[in-house]
Amino acid sequence: MKTEILKMLRETEDYVSGQQICGKLGVSRTAVWKVIRQLQEEGYQIEAVRNRGYRILDGPDVMTREELESLMGTRWAGSRIYYYPETDSTNIRIRQLADEGAPHGTLAVADMQTAGRGRRGRTWESPAGSSIYMSILLRPDLMPSAAPPLTLVMACSVAEGIMDCEDVKVQIKWPNDVIINGRKLVGILTEMSTQVDYIDHVIIGVGINVNMTEFPDSIRETATSLRIEAGHKVRRAKLIAAVMKRFEADYEMFMQTGDLSGLMEKYSSMLVNQDRDVRILGVKETYTAHALGIDRNGELIVRREDGTEEKISSGEVSVRGVYGYV
Ligand code: BTN
Repeated sequence: MKTEILKMLRETEDYVSGQQICGKLGVSRTAVWKVIRQLQEEGYQIEAVRNRGYRILDGPDVMTREELESLMGTRWAGSRIYYYPETDSTNIRIRQLADEGAPHGTLAVADMQTAGRGRRGRTWESPAGSSIYMSILLRPDLMPSAAPPLTLVMACSVAEGIMDCEDVKVQIKWPNDVIINGRKLVGILTEMSTQVDYIDHVIIGVGINVNMTEFPDSIRETATSLRIEAGHKVRRAKLIAAVMKRFEADYEMFMQTGDLSGLMEKYSSMLVNQDRDVRILGVKETYTAHALGIDRNGELIVRREDGTEEKISSGEVSVRGVYGYV
């Protein structure tokens, strides 16, 4: 009932009468009043005026299931939400939920992670109260070899979702870091469970530095937050809903062809590597090349100094001037 009441209050800037809420939800006035009181205790500023009803003025920066559900405008992405005030890692939570049979689109969100994981075995700093840690479960009908670009799809959606909410210009550092002014704002960790010829599930975990103002020494020079860049605090739940909305559309576009053809233009317009010199830290060698863009499978096309072109499917790529590469 909390979700429905929040939704009704958010649908209009005007007052919603107690009677309207009772009528729509089929509950008593006392029950409505109790929920309003609970919401006020949780930090929602709800004005109650005799003979007019209730009006929401402001809400707290929380990511509870009710808050998220009342903002979510999607059909399947984030339609089932699990919220954890504290957990080990939302990727681990989603893996467990996947094994228990959770459906496509299930979303796990945490306020804090005690074992946040980054790419290449790194850890992901996950303090409480300031950032977004979320993971979505996908069950795509694809061959395992076609799944890797999904991580680029999410990068695209996160970048778009951020720009829908805030007046900032974000870019993507191939394959899936979202950056602002050359510093990292978002990290994405994609994990897959496959059989030989089918995917059981894909987990895409997203960490967004939202309201952090301090970073540990190891990332102080390379990381930033939305609060630092936008100059004000940002509501996390609204941002999650915006990202899910974009992801639902981008994922459906991807699934129409099973590759990035429908998203390449958008992705490339945000790609910081496009037409720039990059340093490729490969498994066998490290070398400099010129990045020409991505192909439909999300591989980075580069031209080596001797003129030969090749495709990079994964690995570390640093861009001149981004994260301090010179
Ligand atoms: C990177 O190294 O850039 C990827 C970082 C991914 C962090 C997110 S936070 C939510 C999800 N849970 C994790 O443990 N990791 C991902």
